[in-house]
Amino acid sequence: MNFLKLISLCLRVSVVTLALLVLAGCEVERRKSDAELGLNPQQAAGRQLYDNYCDRCHEPYSSRGKKGPGLKGVFKQQYLSLSGLPANDERMSDIIKHGRAKMEGFSQVMTDQQIQDLIAYLHTL
Ligand code: HEC
Repeated sequence: MNFLKLISLCLRVSVVTLALLVLAGCEVERRKSDAELGLNPQQAAGRQLYDNYCDRCHEPYSSRGKKGPGLKGVFKQQYLSLSGLPANDERMSDIIKHGRAKMEGFSQVMTDQQIQDLIAYLHTL
């Protein structure tokens, strides 16, 4: 292999590598920190609860469904998208405590204070 061929091969390999890196970067959206999201301490505590108990079934920053509907902007609308229940703290607290058909309740898992923290975080979505 002569020198020029070798150079062009190296170039091609690095272009492909770069393209793959760029693609991978687009695919995985970096998780924002609490500070970047502008969360106060109560909301940040609520976020942790969300990660522990809700995230596996509900997307926080997308309306895309997982096991349950995405919760992006859940309090920005007047009614919950699936059940049509009013989107207010009271109904939300009921749903979290008692669950829905395919969602367990969390009254045995979280204290009332923790549910308040979680709701404070849901308001930021
Ligand atoms: C095991 C999966 C699962 C977990 C964990 C879960 N949910 Fe759900 N959730 C669902 C499903 C499925 C529904 C759809 C309603 C139904 O089951 O009838 C739902 C419905 C809801 C609704 C009502 C949506 C609407 O439009 O009516 C809210 C609000 C909600 N979940 C919030 C939460 C919160 C907050 C948590 C964390 C404490 C949580 N969920 C944990 C699966 C889950």
